[in-house]
Amino acid sequence: MRIESLRYTERFGSVRINDLQKVLELDSGRKSETPRKEEIAVHKIEDEVIKDIEGKMAIVIPIKDEKLKLFEGVISGIPHDCLIIVVSNSQRKRMDRFRMERDTLAQFCRFTQRQALIVHQKDPQLAQGLAQAGYADMLDKKGVVRNGKSEGMVLGILLAMLNKKEYVAFIDSDNYIPGAVWEYVKIYAAGFSLAQSPYAMVRVLWHYKPKISPEMYFRKWGRVSEITNRYINALLSDKTGFETEIIKTANAGEHAMTMKLAEILPYASGFAVEPQELISIFEGFGGILPTANQAAAKHGIEIFQIETRNPHLHEERGGMHLRRMILPVLSVIHYSALCNSEIKQQISEKLIEQRALQPEGEMPSPYLISPLKTVDIQGFTSFMKEHLPTYSVLEE
Ligand code: GDD
Repeated sequence: MRIESLRYTERFGSVRINDLQKVLELDSGRKSETPRKEEIAVHKIEDEVIKDIEGKMAIVIPIKDEKLKLFEGVISGIPHDCLIIVVSNSQRKRMDRFRMERDTLAQFCRFTQRQALIVHQKDPQLAQGLAQAGYADMLDKKGVVRNGKSEGMVLGILLAMLNKKEYVAFIDSDNYIPGAVWEYVKIYAAGFSLAQSPYAMVRVLWHYKPKISPEMYFRKWGRVSEITNRYINALLSDKTGFETEIIKTANAGEHAMTMKLAEILPYASGFAVEPQELISIFEGFGGILPTANQAAAKHGIEIFQIETRNPHLHEERGGMHLRRMILPVLSVIHYSALCNSEIKQQISEKLIEQRALQPEGEMPSPYLISPLKTVDIQGFTSFMKEHLPTYSVLEE
């Protein structure tokens, strides 16, 4: 793969926020011994470097009642050496969709000779393991794991950790283009190959997010992302005194982290998870509030933002869904200790304008799940040891 070299980095305390890098070439050819002429402007990441990182990476796929054909396409796009971890919150009563997902995954793994894990979010053993570890934030009143994509992601991180993976990445299950899924993983590996810190994150920016209305239109920015980017940048600009547009991936559902970073971040429930990751990094390592983790601060946190070649085509869920999404997303910025009263006011006005908040309505405060580092992972690991094989789709 060839991607643009890093041209510009903004620093916020011990956080290095790298400006957007574009993918130039999906396949950069054989390794060559002769010096490359484009070396200053372009990174060539060799196939074996990418493959090596893929072998250490788990890809977490959250799924809730998606079309099986889409799920099948997504798993077919995940490079062979990555461990697939599917976390499902699909219905089991009227129709056992989880069973169908499991069968689809098992058939895929049988024919491709690879291993994968699949777990249902409401699995009682998991809930018991989490309770044992003191991870009450993950559980609801009934004692099972709460609903939400972010809760699914945290389960995925835990399973990746149990499988001793160094990197954990996320890919939504409603993607229409398997080739795009493949590219996301290559991008994650390319980003990590450039990282100098063991605390790194790679966030994907889609080249286009097409809309069909009535013809295909290659829209660049998602409606929610545009707004979220603006307010996160406003927050950074206010603190540094220099206006910035550095953040272009505030809502990146497709993103990846080194396990070291994944362990120390808190996670916001539901769809606020991606902007909250950035907010938590800025709060914990921006040098304004107390430092969240000394070791990470010493190494620095590195954020890569890389733009795909493939467009992103996924299930369109309409205006209501967007309104439901934007409220928790902006509330994590609003409630950040870094947010000043002027930005808070602008956020409230934007939410009212978007009809996501009533004029007199109260901004809901985000529900935060504590970092994995703060719970008894050892307790979870020993409890889960005997149950773990039941999540593998192929018998060992
Ligand atoms: N395990 C699990 N549990 N998965 C879930 C749940 C849940 O409760 N709810 C949704 N999912 C899965 C969906 O099946 C899908 O694969 C993925 O999570 C994203 O959910 P969508 O409902 O499709 O979200 P979206 O497409 O509107 O938004 C996505 O893109 C945004 C950026 O534009 C999400 O990834 C957002 O988090 C992201 O900000």
